[in-house]
Amino acid sequence: MKDFLRTASLSPEDLSLLLDRAVDLERDPDRGRAVLRGETVVLYFEKPSTRTRLSFETAVARLGGHAIFTTTSDLQTARGETLEDTARVGSRYARAWVLRTYRHEHVVRFAAAATVPVINALTNDHHPCQSLADLLTLRQHWGSLARRTVAWIGPGNNVAHSFLEGAMLAGMRVRVATPPEYAPDVEVVADARDIAKATGGALDVVEHPADAARGADAIYTDAWTSMGDDPRETDARRAAFERYRIDDRLFGLAAPDAVFLHCMPAYRGAEVSASVFDGRRSLVLQQAENHLHTSVALLEMLLRTELSGSAR
Ligand code: CP
Ligand code: NVA
Repeated sequence: MKDFLRTASLSPEDLSLLLDRAVDLERDPDRGRAVLRGETVVLYFEKPSTRTRLSFETAVARLGGHAIFTTTSDLQTARGETLEDTARVGSRYARAWVLRTYRHEHVVRFAAAATVPVINALTNDHHPCQSLADLLTLRQHWGSLARRTVAWIGPGNNVAHSFLEGAMLAGMRVRVATPPEYAPDVEVVADARDIAKATGGALDVVEHPADAARGADAIYTDAWTSMGDDPRETDARRAAFERYRIDDRLFGLAAPDAVFLHCMPAYRGAEVSASVFDGRRSLVLQQAENHLHTSVALLEMLLRTELSGSAR
């Protein structure tokens, strides 16, 4: 595996090894220090980021390297240089590229032209790095993931897509509740269900939030409006999602020891009440921290694979 563009590109075994490695490298950061010594990793972000950017910059430092952060306006892409030329040239300097873009197709094109690993740090359609942090958080909390039930109550886009793929790889059960017009992509759902056939996972898409929440071991939500969404639709989204807010009443339908997840940034009073988000069963800060540990493990895994498998 050269790149990490979608969670579904991992095998169940690789996912499990990656989460194990994240824990090992958190406990003993010195074990990764040599991986990037004297080398760079470029972060190219078209959208804002707190967790993913700071995690990757810190992860590169933990692996002994140096991160170069750039935005759209910094590179010649702003003046029309192609993604392919940027990728080919960029592969001559850096050991890996981490991209956050609007269109998923752009990271796919970049990765196809690059000769070094490319990591998707969020597109409108996928956020695979987020799913690693999510699954590590739940595994740390429960000890194992298989057969646990998570209610995804919120928009069915990037974070949801990657979580579904990851949860199916881990043999989990996910119940997605969204207004039908914001449901997850049908192809992503079909792919996730295919994965589930081999792992014992299960995926249901429902309309009513209570149907997803009832008895769930965890409830997960995301902001109603994403960075890639048309801001003119914000009011319509707010109206459509109003009854999907995770408040004490909805959270109360989940299992008594259920936990709460949110990828952040969060908007208290919109998709989640402050009482749930800041409550004692909220794992959101651990989830945010785990971006770092999984980023270290992911970079290490891709770079070690590259060293063993390529002519570099
Ligand atoms: N969860 C997440 O990816 O956050 P950022 O947008 O701050 O990176
Ligand atoms: N769905 C959100 C996730 C942010 C981490 C967005 O794309 O803006």
